[in-house]
Amino acid sequence: MHGLEVGLFDEIESNGEPLPASVIARKFNYDKFMTERFLNTLVSLSILEKTEHKGTALYSNTPGTTKYLTRSRRPALIASAMTEFNVFLPILSNLSNTMKTGKAFIDMANIKAGKIGSADSTVSKDIRQNNNSNHNKTNLIMNGNGLGSNGISTNGPNGTTGMGPNNTNGIYPDKPTNGSKPSMDCSSMIMLSMDGLTVPCAPVLVKAFDLSAHRTAVDLGGGSGLIGRTLASEYPEMNITVFDLPPVVQLAKKLYPENNTGQVTFVSGNFFEDEIPNADLYLLSHVIHDMTEVQINTLLQRVYKKLPPGGSLLILEKTLNEKKDGPSFAISNDLIMSLISTGRERSAKEYRDLIDAQGFTNIQIRQVGGYNYFDAILSKKPF
Ligand SMILES: C[S@@+](CC[C@H](N)C(=O)[O-])C[C@H]1O[C@@H](n2cnc3c(N)ncnc32)[C@H](O)[C@@H]1O
Repeated sequence: MHGLEVGLFDEIESNGEPLPASVIARKFNYDKFMTERFLNTLVSLSILEKTEHKGTALYSNTPGTTKYLTRSRRPALIASAMTEFNVFLPILSNLSNTMKTGKAFIDMANIKAGKIGSADSTVSKDIRQNNNSNHNKTNLIMNGNGLGSNGISTNGPNGTTGMGPNNTNGIYPDKPTNGSKPSMDCSSMIMLSMDGLTVPCAPVLVKAFDLSAHRTAVDLGGGSGLIGRTLASEYPEMNITVFDLPPVVQLAKKLYPENNTGQVTFVSGNFFEDEIPNADLYLLSHVIHDMTEVQINTLLQRVYKKLPPGGSLLILEKTLNEKKDGPSFAISNDLIMSLISTGRERSAKEYRDLIDAQGFTNIQIRQVGGYNYFDAILSKKPF
């Protein structure tokens, strides 16, 4: 994590040649022997490679490090790693409180769902405060919630938020200077971090079922548009609308200029209150696991009413096994959900029951193996 925060892998990458520890130490103003120990630890973890030239050890990135841990590359695994470290690990330290109360510590939906923009929310105030301040450590969502200075530390030394001035590719945190934290606002970080996890799965998910009969799709709570864009490239005849709350749509357009294609369009709105665009396929990807049963039923009912007979609903969520003790990714995510939302992870049968209760039929579930963030659940509105 330290390597990510200070931009070690970017520095090594931009040099083009493997570097000795002494040069790296000089660049970062570090103690030479400490630097050697740190670099050797990264070698043991296969994050760096070490070669020798004329008796001097030289350090370079492994291909995986270049691909996933440098700022110039997509997907945004760097944002995922930093969110895990800066957001979820500190949140997990509050587990004992949630264990006692059974209540979430914070509602992450406040950030993802764009209450950031609403004038009265604590989140909004905290973020605005941070936008205007000169802190290099922030408590974006944690003020008043007890996390203190271990809160999300994403702002740069000048209080910059969003895409900082030196950000050449437009979506990643700036390369930090003088040991500062990379600058990026919290909502961007979360969106990119979710994308980092979704990028490897999205092409598999959009092919989990043959969706080619559908002409129009709406990705409800479609966030950055990543799944929408992947769907578009798999089904060139399909028109896709990404529907999300206004600040999220605004952010998605800013982070991903390639979103503005003709095949994928964005509509802002609240899926509980506003008119949902027409489609013969609706997607809900990682949306309902954040919600209470009442909210899920309301949303599924709204989707059911909008669908034409024969239309489909595709839910993407990671399912728990029926004993609810695995797979490990799903069950550990369930623990995280308990701390940050009113939702939970569910088994395939629980999803089937929820969907069935709203009148959907032909429910099919494809469990996707490996370290995967999603399974795919397809159902239909009967004729
Ligand atoms: C966990 S994110 C999932 C994003 C994306 N679907 C994915 O799989 O990466 C949940 C998304 O639902 C959106 N959302 C939550 N409540 C919403 C509402 N009432 N109306 C529209 N979108 C909403 C959030 O803004 C967020 O983008």
